[in-house]
Amino acid sequence: MPKQGLFVTFEGGEGTGKSTQIRLLADRLRRRGVDVLVTREPGGSPGAEAVRHVILSGAAEEYGTRMEAVLFAAARNDHVEEVIRPALASGAVVLCDRFMDSSRVYQGITGNLEPAFVQNLERVAVNGVVPDCTIILDIPAAEGLRRARLRTGNAEVQEAPDRFEKEELETHEKRREAFLDIAEADPLRCRVVDASGSIETIADKVFSIVDPLLPILSTRAKETGQA
Ligand code: TYD
Repeated sequence: MPKQGLFVTFEGGEGTGKSTQIRLLADRLRRRGVDVLVTREPGGSPGAEAVRHVILSGAAEEYGTRMEAVLFAAARNDHVEEVIRPALASGAVVLCDRFMDSSRVYQGITGNLEPAFVQNLERVAVNGVVPDCTIILDIPAAEGLRRARLRTGNAEVQEAPDRFEKEELETHEKRREAFLDIAEADPLRCRVVDASGSIETIADKVFSIVDPLLPILSTRAKETGQA
């Protein structure tokens, strides 16, 4: 059965404002009468939320990056089959905070896992449900880190980054580059949005990307006799 909804994922490092932008886009689409499902990874389904707890609590950390990658994939497959695929089949616009590109970047690039392993996991996890559009929110790594710390109330001003903070900054920069590489390699699916401007400016930009994709919904509905 053909997919009928629209699957939009949001990606980027910490502190890029993904959840704010998803909320604003969802509000805007709902005001136009669009059926919107907002979800997130890791998590988004009861099974995946249970796995989220295992991953983010650090309980799996001692078992290594491969184990974590498999857990992310297990959570993703449950989320896809239990929530995303049914929502798309019902014609909804699904807005997902992080998806397969986060695994490519966090487990594949900064986790140093071999590409074939990450690709195989991705194929099994998404099982054909690939985003129609991926919005990559992009800001310099230092700014993302600063915002992420503000959010967690840990933003004390320091004169110079210590060794670990510097390492953290390098990791964030690597992730930023990796997301930009993904966008460059898949320009039909991915759009990069400069996330350093005002919330409203970014929201307008995000809407201008998603809005033209909405007619696809009615076209698909007509094709399947559900106009
Ligand atoms: P979360 O608290 O949801 O953070 P954020 O607001 O940055 O999305 O935690 C998700 C963390 O999990 C985040 O650090 C990115 C990481 N992650 C992966 O490493 N791989 C993945 O496939 C996904 C979906 C997330």
